[in-house]
Amino acid sequence: MLKEEVLRALEERPGERVTGGDLARRLNVSRTAVWKAVNALKREGISISSARNSGYRFEGHNNVLADRGIRKALRTRLLGNRIELLKTVDSTSSYLKKLDPATLQEGFVVVADGQTAGRGRRGRPFRSPGGEGVYMSVLLKPDLPLADIRFLTIGAALAVCSAVEKTCGVSPQVKWVNDIYCRGRKLCGILTEGSVSAELQTMNHVVVGIGINTGILDREVGDLAISLRELTDAGDIRNLLIAEVLNAMEIVYTALTADGRRQELLEAYREKLFVIGQEVEVAAPGENYPAVAVGLDETGGLMVRDGSGRIRHLCSEEISVRVSGRPGGSAFHL
Ligand code: BTN
Repeated sequence: MLKEEVLRALEERPGERVTGGDLARRLNVSRTAVWKAVNALKREGISISSARNSGYRFEGHNNVLADRGIRKALRTRLLGNRIELLKTVDSTSSYLKKLDPATLQEGFVVVADGQTAGRGRRGRPFRSPGGEGVYMSVLLKPDLPLADIRFLTIGAALAVCSAVEKTCGVSPQVKWVNDIYCRGRKLCGILTEGSVSAELQTMNHVVVGIGINTGILDREVGDLAISLRELTDAGDIRNLLIAEVLNAMEIVYTALTADGRRQELLEAYREKLFVIGQEVEVAAPGENYPAVAVGLDETGGLMVRDGSGRIRHLCSEEISVRVSGRPGGSAFHL
């Protein structure tokens, strides 16, 4: 497409002005066609300055998700072998699941600039305003027993932590099992959904959905959420962040599926957990109870000590961290 070629030609000469005539000659099109292509790029949010008679200058990608921007930093063989970029979608995970994953190659990734019906765990909505976050879903077809599905969430959490560290220089922490926090506020949520073979007790496919706040947060989230914007002045790093999440996820995934290095993964995950030793409120089907998080078992389940001193192993329950000093010792999601 001409606009892609114009962009490439401008990117090749950073900081320099290139005249419309030069571009037209090089690309063998008219100056009007160049002008139209530049306007289309500007409408997509790519910053190109133009000055009468002296031409166009590429000023940078302005918060635009771009396949090329992602691929520049992608070092994977499997994850991201195909990436579909969408402007808006209800939910990247719902979209991927509707595409019929059985027919798709493992590693297929859907990324959206914004979601209109982003989903979190337990049917909760996940706020996904356009341009203000990374919303991505990755299709996996792991050759693992069903019981291991939690390791995929654990691996994705480690991958997000590593990608955030790499791109922003900050070290996030994890609230078991799927939430990433910085400075006590939620930065990212992960939703792992699978289609299983009941007969074989294996996974047919798994969709790992990742939502990371990168831009301006809605006021309603108050001080419960945080965005990378507050943590780094690196500007818009969404393309790079997506690539680094996939890079890290592939390493973790390979370790899990091929090398069977799950003890190492668990150890790395345990180090990232900030809830160990904390008072938590456990939300289990039919009961809520206070407990203290005491460790992680070999399946990635959180171990808590309840009020009667009994150690319980959590699977799909949710925890919230109890904040001491709050009236009534109330619990809330950090
Ligand atoms: C949670 O916080 O409970 C999990 C949130 C997961 C959000 C991501 S954004 C990309 C993908 N699409 C969705 O609808 N949800 C996940």
